[in-house]
Amino acid sequence: PSILVINGPNLNLLGTREPAVYGTATLDDVVRLAEESAQAAGCTTTAMQSNHEGELIDAIHAARGTADGIVINAGAFTHTSIALRDALAAVGLPVVEVHISNVHRREDFRAHSYISGVADAVIVGAGIDGYRLAVDHLARRLTGHRT
Ligand code: DQA
Repeated sequence: PSILVINGPNLNLLGTREPAVYGTATLDDVVRLAEESAQAAGCTTTAMQSNHEGELIDAIHAARGTADGIVINAGAFTHTSIALRDALAAVGLPVVEVHISNVHRREDFRAHSYISGVADAVIVGAGIDGYRLAVDHLARRLTGHRT
């Protein structure tokens, strides 16, 4: 099985962006961690990042028929984008939502996610380890392991 790992706006700056909040690991580190986690569970990953809402929507559409599940950190679009939520609902693949920081311990506007209502699981506040957990969980589902 194949897992699409989607990162949204500003996550290309991981490593230098507010390191006190998001840590010092880079997006490359995240992509590598996700791939290692997938392989260990018998899956593969494809990763994409975009700062543009429409490109993220296009990537979700393209996942239909090419991926078996989606791990998504939609960045700030999490809190604003009904269109991303609708795209995930339209494609109907299993979804795990990830946030590096604990969005519930920050500003009030980060507490609401449009994505969570279409996600099978949500992992917040575990740092980049959240991607490993998300991929591992999705991979286990996809390969029929008990979860
Ligand atoms: C984030 C949390 C969002 O509120 C923020 O806009 C991000 C990153 C996280 O991974 O903690 O860009 O999704």
